[in-house]
Amino acid sequence: MNLIEVLIIVFCLIVLIILVSSMFRLNMPRRVNLEGIEDPKTAEAYDRISRMPQFKLIRRSFVKKLKKYCTKETITDIGCGPGYLLQSVSKEFPENKLVGVDISKEMVEKAKANFASMGYGERIEFRQGAADYLPFDDSTQDFIVSTFSLHHWADPEASFKEIFRILKPGGQMLIFDFRRDAQRLLFYLIWFAQNVALRIMGITAIRKINEPMGSLLASYTKKEIGELIKKTPFKDYQIEGKLGWIYLYGKKAENAL
Ligand SMILES: C[S@@+](CC[C@H](N)C(=O)[O-])C[C@H]1O[C@@H](n2cnc3c(N)ncnc32)[C@H](O)[C@@H]1O
Repeated sequence: MNLIEVLIIVFCLIVLIILVSSMFRLNMPRRVNLEGIEDPKTAEAYDRISRMPQFKLIRRSFVKKLKKYCTKETITDIGCGPGYLLQSVSKEFPENKLVGVDISKEMVEKAKANFASMGYGERIEFRQGAADYLPFDDSTQDFIVSTFSLHHWADPEASFKEIFRILKPGGQMLIFDFRRDAQRLLFYLIWFAQNVALRIMGITAIRKINEPMGSLLASYTKKEIGELIKKTPFKDYQIEGKLGWIYLYGKKAENAL
């Protein structure tokens, strides 16, 4: 056997190991990551990656799911970041009032700037606030959405109780996030994105804070989400687990206070 043949066999073996192991789920302890994205350079870098096609696709499939549930008036995005989810939502829900909330002042400013030239007027509003201390009165919101933010929340149990508090009776929530018990394939893809793709693109601010790997490892497993939501007043909920992400749907009972 010559060197080339040996190299080909080694390469095929590596590919085979990666393919087989990608089918198993990750089993790693949770690692807490930062809460709000406050650093201007990181916020700018996050804004840039949010406009990439893969994020657009995720938002499109989230909005498709939202259309199945949402018939109500206001849609409130918790941890809205630069506001692109609300932009996608606004196209499919042209009559709804949209509100974005983020713990980070920097992100709220970015979201406002991203919407400034689009002429939404009073239809859209951004507020600074934390998921566990939301700037709304009791029973005032129709539909809560959130993407890629749950794993940042310092107190997710208090946050779900807070979401329940601000929802009107019959109000609903749809939350999307990574799941830490993702199939390893996602782990490899994220490793590649962080260590190869972002490096080539020169997006260092995100790599410096160990993202996106930090977010995957800070996220909850499907079982943990189930245990978490059981501790809240939500009785009507569904958890839909996918390859590397989760949808959590919840509804506040019509007769709830
Ligand atoms: C990874 S970004 C996701 C942004 C956007 N939802 C998206 O899908 O692109 C997470 C966002 O959640 C915000 N965030 C983190 N902890 C929060 C909390 N406790 N309450 C509200 N927002 C929070 C961060 O400031 C950041 O803008």
